[in-house]
Amino acid sequence: MARRPFVAGNWKMNGTLTDARELMAGLRNAVEPGMPVDVAVCTPFTLLYPMGKELDGTDIKLGAQNCYFEKKGAFTGEISPGMLSAANCTYVIIGHSERRYVLGETGDLLRAKVKSCLEEGLSVIYCVGELLDERDAGKTTDVVGRQLAESLSDDLDHARLTIAYEPVWAIGTGRTATPDQAQEVHAFIRERMGGLFGADAGAAMRIQYGGSVKPGNAAELMACPDVDGALVGGASLVAEDFAGIIRAAAATA
Ligand code: PGA
Repeated sequence: MARRPFVAGNWKMNGTLTDARELMAGLRNAVEPGMPVDVAVCTPFTLLYPMGKELDGTDIKLGAQNCYFEKKGAFTGEISPGMLSAANCTYVIIGHSERRYVLGETGDLLRAKVKSCLEEGLSVIYCVGELLDERDAGKTTDVVGRQLAESLSDDLDHARLTIAYEPVWAIGTGRTATPDQAQEVHAFIRERMGGLFGADAGAAMRIQYGGSVKPGNAAELMACPDVDGALVGGASLVAEDFAGIIRAAAATA
């Protein structure tokens, strides 16, 4: 099944509005109209409103990196799915390993977030991935399978769901999974998604790879049959590098 490649930049906790405008000046021409790839930048909350305006008229969509599951109320410091929609977000990343391991987010919390964001009409990028010692112990599919099972359920609107496989040992380390390692886990995720949502939905779901994706390794990763794009951290902050990854994704379409 032909799936449209999808490349999202995860800016993490980086960037002022000045930095963002500079980056956009370099990126604006990277996505030409009609290019066969979906592109998003997931910015810090503080940049969502101005970036929504910056992206107006481009084919680049806006995303957030997290949000809370409640609609409103006494949740100091949190942002609701409705607030993201109002700020023109199309996407939201849920379950990034930095949220799981630095901020202590649990599978139950992530389940509530995924559900609430999809119900709001946002498209969710749900991240899964194993730690290095889990990979070394041969537990990669156990861990990824558990992360999928604990936060996703068959009542979700899966048409707006993307899975990002991000081996934690490859994030920000310069160490990427080999294409074979990525393909193996992506095929496993697709099979699980087929089991949960039905074979057609599994075949249609986009699964991004993330973890030290650069222009130099993007093409070989995205050539894997079950790798449908990338979730890009560090390289998404360098216009030329992000543009190179977008071109590599478009070339696989
Ligand atoms: P990286 O980050 O590309 O800098 O490894 C990826 C991510 O955390 O989404």
